[in-house]
Amino acid sequence: MKAWDVIVIGAGAAGLMCAAEAGKRGRKVLLLDHGKRIGRKILMSGGGRCNFTNYFVEPAAYLCGNPHFVKSALARYTQWDFIALVEKHGIAYHEKTLGQLFCDDSAQDIVDMLVKECEDAGVTIRLRAEILQVDRLGEGFMVATAGDEVSCQSLVVASGGLSMPKIGASPFGYKLAEQFGLRVLPTRAGLVPFTLQPEDKATLEPLAGVSLPVVAESEDGTRFAESLLFTHRGVSGPSVLQISSYWQAGEQVHFELLPAGRLAQGVADSPNQELKTWLGRYLPKRLVETLLEREKITSKPLKQYVPKELAAIEQLLSAWPLKPGGTEGYRTAEVTLGGVDTNELSSKTMMANKVPNLYFIGEVVDVTGWLGGYNFQWAWSAGWCAGQVV
Ligand code: FDA
Repeated sequence: MKAWDVIVIGAGAAGLMCAAEAGKRGRKVLLLDHGKRIGRKILMSGGGRCNFTNYFVEPAAYLCGNPHFVKSALARYTQWDFIALVEKHGIAYHEKTLGQLFCDDSAQDIVDMLVKECEDAGVTIRLRAEILQVDRLGEGFMVATAGDEVSCQSLVVASGGLSMPKIGASPFGYKLAEQFGLRVLPTRAGLVPFTLQPEDKATLEPLAGVSLPVVAESEDGTRFAESLLFTHRGVSGPSVLQISSYWQAGEQVHFELLPAGRLAQGVADSPNQELKTWLGRYLPKRLVETLLEREKITSKPLKQYVPKELAAIEQLLSAWPLKPGGTEGYRTAEVTLGGVDTNELSSKTMMANKVPNLYFIGEVVDVTGWLGGYNFQWAWSAGWCAGQVV
């Protein structure tokens, strides 16, 4: 049985970063993945250009059972550290919006960069490696793959979450955590489009393709000012993906289509204009027609509405309520909420408190970032921290 210092399971964002860092410290590292390609999610991320980090990374941009958990790793390996690595490799990048950094050319640049870092650090990468069993072996571990058995002093689990099972996502990390007695918090799809209740689908489906800037708000008061997109299946766009991570089944989401006070201004400025025409100045025409029809609002000159009617229209425009039927689930979700309970791990090293030399990094952990490069930054930061100690 070949002995390694470190075995990392999962050649995704977190695993590649951790393996390279451990290798640089002179550790003999084996990186295993059951897939046939390295970094498949990196390759498909950001529309093929990988939104690899964000200028505005901060702990508040992460959902986690213990909101303090992410602070140490994000402070020790920051977005500026990753940007420096990208620049060292001569990768051209740009800010798209809201601090989101994308490759100018291709996400392949990021994968090539991480593979080069691993190669330079002497990491051995083995793909198509199906893991059959993991057992404790003294202070370390024995890992049985379909090909052979290998042992290691430190075992790092970087097997990711459940989203996109078609490209290799598996519950491996959660099962392994449970095997070693660690608590795993319930998982659900995050950064995911909403599906609609049948009656909403009937009235909103014709709006497929319509997009507009909104402020989406969840029942806990979290708000995101980004765009909303109607699709054939339901609603999507950045505002929906963001708010989906804060949504629980059965809850409503509210969309601010027009800021409060705008209608009162309209009544004062354009009293003779019909509601439908006036709304058409600010909102897509198809949406205006659908909204008025759904809510049974008759369009007439603004001055003809009585205060009670105006208040109801104002309420509708400033907080349009929608009760999603559900989400599109792991098939299209960008991330998985929940996972290995952070109370089980050291926030500095990612080692399991009660299982020395067992580490969990990246998305398998109960840490989920906003849309916009925050999830990769968590993977880089957590991977880097573990890489310093394994
Ligand atoms: P990741 O999923 O990257 O890697 C896990 C690895 O483990 C995979 O290679 C998998 O094959 C392997 N594995 C799983 N089970 C295994 C088993 N049983 N045995 C062996 N290996 C196993 N984030 C962001 O910040 N910016 C962005 O632009 C995007 N865009 C984006 C687009 C799409 C379509 C998706 C689905 C996701 C994103 N994300 C994103 C999220 C981001 O991809 C995600 O947070 C990171 O990839 C998580 O990194 P990890 O290394 O933890 O898991």
